[in-house]
Amino acid sequence: MLIVLENPPDSGLIFGGRFHARAGAGGCGPGRRPGRGGARRPARGGGRAGLREIGKNRPTLARCFITRTLPGTALDRLAQTHEVDVWPQHLPPTHEDLVKRAPAMEGLISLPTDPIDAELIENAPLLRAISNYAVGYDNIDLQAAKARQIPVGHTPDVLTNATADLAFALLLAVARRLPEAMAAVRAGEWLTWGPSSHLGVELANATLGIVGLGRIGQAVARRGEGFGMRVIHTDSRSTADDLASLLESADFVSLHAPLTEDTRHLIDETVLNAMKPTAILINTGRGGLVDHDALAAALKGGSIAGAALDVTEPEPIPLDHPLLDAPNLIITPHIGSATTTARERMAEIAVDNLLAGLAGEPMPHAVPD
Ligand code: DGY
Repeated sequence: MLIVLENPPDSGLIFGGRFHARAGAGGCGPGRRPGRGGARRPARGGGRAGLREIGKNRPTLARCFITRTLPGTALDRLAQTHEVDVWPQHLPPTHEDLVKRAPAMEGLISLPTDPIDAELIENAPLLRAISNYAVGYDNIDLQAAKARQIPVGHTPDVLTNATADLAFALLLAVARRLPEAMAAVRAGEWLTWGPSSHLGVELANATLGIVGLGRIGQAVARRGEGFGMRVIHTDSRSTADDLASLLESADFVSLHAPLTEDTRHLIDETVLNAMKPTAILINTGRGGLVDHDALAAALKGGSIAGAALDVTEPEPIPLDHPLLDAPNLIITPHIGSATTTARERMAEIAVDNLLAGLAGEPMPHAVPD
């Protein structure tokens, strides 16, 4: 049985049968032509035949929208049983693009860049499963999904090491002033070995304060212990006083709390002023945890010694933002989970979640209630 679904206006490319994804941001698998939305074509190499066979055995074929190409081959697996429509561009779909596609969506794999809000969910009467390609899910209106009994999945665990590695890389880079030292070499300022040049701070015996002791927080704590640091932490049961005493004694503060209404701007002017003037702040969680204007002022005024952000609010950070000329600051473009292993495994989990949700089974990694 060959199942043909109508193409929504402005559709991206839909693959029946085998889907071929190529790793790399914005990469285009065979059968895809970037920038030519509206065409619906099978992947080369037997897409139609594959669809016919799949349709015969699995009459529950669902139309799935994937908001970007994912690394690895997980989408191949999804396309064995469902229609797979991948947003073909390097930049994410806008909210308007998503709402336009919503009426046709039965399954959705979204990214942290996609606001899956009540308006989108309302416009998606066929939507039966949302699978977020991230461990965080603050981009999804969970209440709106719950009201429609749409299960929501995420991708925990597989990115823990990658993200903890990056947090630690940033911590070391700020502690040892690597960006400044590297820039000096390229600028021809490396004239000799200087007893007082580029002096940083040591990790051994320093205090590492982990804000949010979830999976990633624990992984960063283990790295800290390996470097001989004294590790202290707060977790979801901690009070404001617990946070205050952590901030007073930590030499490094690493943020791993989820972004919620309660944690938005957790690190504000008052908190920054309570930190040691020698302290270094690392954020690989969500940009909204930190009040960026207050952080820029704290770095410029010397109330803390340095910071590294892998996440900002908004993303990308505008080039005229006051943070960008703050001293001792590293900003990376939200690459915490950006290892091939983590991103491919995230894709596998995202597909597992979607397949389960579409089949009416519990998602293996549903977001906690
Ligand atoms: C997440 O998973 O929440 C990260 O921010 C992206 O990997």
